[in-house]
Amino acid sequence: MQDIHTQKILILDFGSQYTQLIARRVREQKVYCEIHPYKVGLKFIKGFAPQGIILSGGPSSVYDKAAPKIPKEVFDLNIPVLGICYGMQLMAHLLGGRVQRSKEREYGGAGLEIRKTSTLFSGLAGSINVWMSHGDKVEIVPHGFSVTARSTNAANCAMQDEARKLFGVQFHPEVSHTPEGSKILGNFLFNVCECEPLWNMRSFIDSSISAIRAKVGDNKVVCGISGGVDSSVAALLVHKAIGKNLTCIFVDNGVLRKGEADRVEAMLKRHFHMNIKRVNAADRFLRKLKGVIDPERKRKIIGNEFIRVFQDEAKKIKNVSFLAQGTLYPDVIESVSFKGPSATIKSHHNVGGLLKNMRLQLVEPLRELFKDEVRALGKELGMDEELINRQPFPGPGLAIRIIGEVTRKRCDILREADAITLEEITAAGLYNKLWQSFAVLLPIKTVGVMGDERTYENVVAIRAVQSVDGMTADWVRLPYDCLGRISTRIINEVKGVNRVVYDISSKPPSTIEWE
Ligand code: XMP
Repeated sequence: MQDIHTQKILILDFGSQYTQLIARRVREQKVYCEIHPYKVGLKFIKGFAPQGIILSGGPSSVYDKAAPKIPKEVFDLNIPVLGICYGMQLMAHLLGGRVQRSKEREYGGAGLEIRKTSTLFSGLAGSINVWMSHGDKVEIVPHGFSVTARSTNAANCAMQDEARKLFGVQFHPEVSHTPEGSKILGNFLFNVCECEPLWNMRSFIDSSISAIRAKVGDNKVVCGISGGVDSSVAALLVHKAIGKNLTCIFVDNGVLRKGEADRVEAMLKRHFHMNIKRVNAADRFLRKLKGVIDPERKRKIIGNEFIRVFQDEAKKIKNVSFLAQGTLYPDVIESVSFKGPSATIKSHHNVGGLLKNMRLQLVEPLRELFKDEVRALGKELGMDEELINRQPFPGPGLAIRIIGEVTRKRCDILREADAITLEEITAAGLYNKLWQSFAVLLPIKTVGVMGDERTYENVVAIRAVQSVDGMTADWVRLPYDCLGRISTRIINEVKGVNRVVYDISSKPPSTIEWE
């Protein structure tokens, strides 16, 4: 079997908001790639031995004092390089061309006129639409380069030194607004870098299984299952590699959705015959949460308690030396551009303590994957589509959707209201189209009337958002009919609720979860 990592593309990140997209577009063409910060250095690049290098865009100007730069020698390694936007400007600047400073940005669609036959543009028409987002532009291309395309706004919109396999484009081939962008990247990957399309989920599974076996040997592994896609897929992959040497611990913390624990257990235990230990720890968690109102304290309590319960259970298994986790690629990219704000706004629990206390080593089989690749992997491993396409659910669960104190009774109310919300969203054919949709229980009571009786009951808020990565989100214009059915059913069927409201705030400035 050919190692799928023998051919890889190195993406050097200069801070563009599109860097992750470049990686996804490359992988969609079945070529493996990794994103690294621009400052990794020549030694790293040589050691990485990429088949080709892509320099991302970025917000800087090459003339900025602290402009991100790479050693000029990168262009002498005999490795093809494609510079995108800032990447192209930097290439021009370092190789002796001239970049023109500009205070005005060109942002939006533009017509590109291809002037010279170039491997990069092979198979394309003479003019195509592209997406621009830049300030500076290349005024004079370096010695040895020729101009391969122009736009109305930029005379030197693409350049190349075909003999040295150096290419630059001012526009963004990675965004969907450049319809031929994938073809251009494909030309770079296959015709310039001479990659082969080897990266796919089948080959990923085979190489991961060998890697997990080599790392773990005959040792025992534990894995915490949350019910989410990532931990389930990670566990399934490790299970494929080492079978019964993996024990999954599924902690029911009392703040899971309705029927969730049963569903996940049924799938992993009955369908895949995995070793699952379900721990019913609702009492433990609810006791700790008693009287707690502050969102951050709730999060910390749940995170810490999870670690305690997990540890208690894991200690019962003999000779455990590894902890498997479903960490994804966006969490590990040490990059200039993805320092998302949410980590500091809300604390997510981490397992650092576990590793130290129990002297465990980590196995993270999804470290190289994006979310959509994890879904494809789950499918390839035979996982239920319903579970694969589940909307994200936060670790602290319903506790951060119950505003105010978390009690068993309030959990039950929200669980029912949430189940109805999801049923109706699903019935309307919307579930898979939304990033998240859920109910929130508010800490206020309002007056209502039922029959001839005055009621004084709880308010439930409905939240439905559209998002690409959870970092930003827009509230969804749910059809009134759907909202109406959700409201009627919750008020009729959930005892203790007499009012339903709809959350029409986007992120930012709101967040997706209420706490
Ligand atoms: P916010 O509320 O910060 O949420 O806009 C962004 C995304 O992250 C999810 N989220 C979490 N996921 N543990 C998780 O695993 C957490 O503590 C947590 N908090 C928020 C949230 O559901 C949304 O998808």
